[in-house]
Amino acid sequence: MNQIWNALRDHHAAVEGRAILDLFADEDRAAAFSARADGMLFDYSKTNIDARGLSLLLDLAEKADLAAKRDAMFTGAKINETEGRAVLHTALRNLDVPVVVDGRDVMPDVRATHARMQAFARDVRQGRFTGQGGAITDVVNIGIGGSDLGPAMAVLALAPFHDGPRCHFVSNVDGAHVHDVLAGLDPATTLVIVASKTFTTIETMTNAETARRWMAQKVANPAAQFAAVSTAAEKTSAFGIDAARVFGFEDWVGGRYSMWGPIGLSILLAVGPEGFEQFLAGGAAMDAHFRQAPFADNLPVLLAVVGLWHNQICGYATRAVLPYDQRLSRLPAYLQQLEMESNGKRVGMDGADLTMHSGPVVWGEPGTNGQHAFYQLIHQGTRVVPCEFLIARMGHEAELRHQHVLLVANCLAQSEALLRGRNLDEARAIMAKKGLTGDELDRQARHRVFPGNRPSTTLAYEQLTPFSFGQIISLYEHRVFVEGVILGINSYDQWGVELGKELALALQPVLEGKAGTEGKDGSTRQLAQWFKG
Ligand code: F6P
Repeated sequence: MNQIWNALRDHHAAVEGRAILDLFADEDRAAAFSARADGMLFDYSKTNIDARGLSLLLDLAEKADLAAKRDAMFTGAKINETEGRAVLHTALRNLDVPVVVDGRDVMPDVRATHARMQAFARDVRQGRFTGQGGAITDVVNIGIGGSDLGPAMAVLALAPFHDGPRCHFVSNVDGAHVHDVLAGLDPATTLVIVASKTFTTIETMTNAETARRWMAQKVANPAAQFAAVSTAAEKTSAFGIDAARVFGFEDWVGGRYSMWGPIGLSILLAVGPEGFEQFLAGGAAMDAHFRQAPFADNLPVLLAVVGLWHNQICGYATRAVLPYDQRLSRLPAYLQQLEMESNGKRVGMDGADLTMHSGPVVWGEPGTNGQHAFYQLIHQGTRVVPCEFLIARMGHEAELRHQHVLLVANCLAQSEALLRGRNLDEARAIMAKKGLTGDELDRQARHRVFPGNRPSTTLAYEQLTPFSFGQIISLYEHRVFVEGVILGINSYDQWGVELGKELALALQPVLEGKAGTEGKDGSTRQLAQWFKG
């Protein structure tokens, strides 16, 4: 591996100064540095990757034994070595393929839970399962991290397909969140889903208790309007939720990869069984592409190696995700967990320190909103931010086609502007036309220069549907896997979240005046003192 990394560094040093725009002298470049899968186009031609760079990047994937590791993941090997677990979120969307874990085919259980979820969703949506005041009008999903971000994003993304009860999401332990969500709802027609893989997460359990007290004020049997989604069946029954409304899953589904199964119950309630099946089918289609397409045409592999080129080779520390699709407005937040919790590690699978940076800082907002906020820095700041644009060929609002054209024009214009920039002569000409001359013309023109040569990629799809949404999410999941394999890290644990949780538990009694601040640093002592007033 080291040899390939070094060759990539040498290659980067040799090509770093050139203009990406000049690479388009090759008229085939756009097609050659693009790949397609099931109606989706990934264009990475507006990057400084050339044939030699790509070939070296793909060598990394070969050398890391990616194909064998990918197959090991899909077939249930315990690739999450620090927790001794298989990684099988893909099994939740490929329901007919047997998968053996610890000598047992896990799929009959997966299918049984899937069928129970579907039946429950139909009962709720068709009014056979009701609240104590009538048909369910609202669903509140209480969860955090992977038990919130995926479903919350999906319900927003699939709004045109939403024909079930209204769905709301409570995650933050800040009482303001649960208070404000519940404030507008009728307890007698609300279903609460407590979504927690572990059923111990303090935020979720605290909010669930609050919701139960809220419901008890109006209904005789609050537990009857609760459902639970968890790997910890004994804890859900201790909370008082009837087993008929508990949907379990196994520890081989990582929290941030879990919305394809029971954690997706709110999605299923929102869009119904057919829509949810389409979502799973989209994810499965991307799985098949990932398993079958040669690396050079393989979208997850290409997204991953472009990411590695920008972060580990070019040294760009962040990556902006810019969906020109308002309904994907939660995608950047979702990807922050998916990518940063998965690949934000400093120790390799072998226990040794990484010799290079792990995953990038991921951030973003939908276009065109971001254009009027942070794009200034992207275009003219001193740091380079690789941008990932997402755009659909069609919106859902036929009568607003003209707005969609405007949206697409903006998306394409931004990647063009990043590529092309505007040089000093062009800026001077513009200012001269405005009547400026001499020193003032020079001074003003310099502020209007865009360096350009800033890399971006575009993921283009037909329309945001349950199917294409499933493809997009599965694509990003596999991209994380490929990056993790090449970096040699375990993308499926998250030990880095533990220390803060432990310290918060220890600080709670300090803030309640039940324990002292011995052993705390001066700043933490001062802040605890401030809180106590
Ligand atoms: O603290 C991080 C984390 O464990 C995430 O990995 C997970 O998605 C989230 O908390 C919620 O966990 P749970 O579903 O067990 O409540």
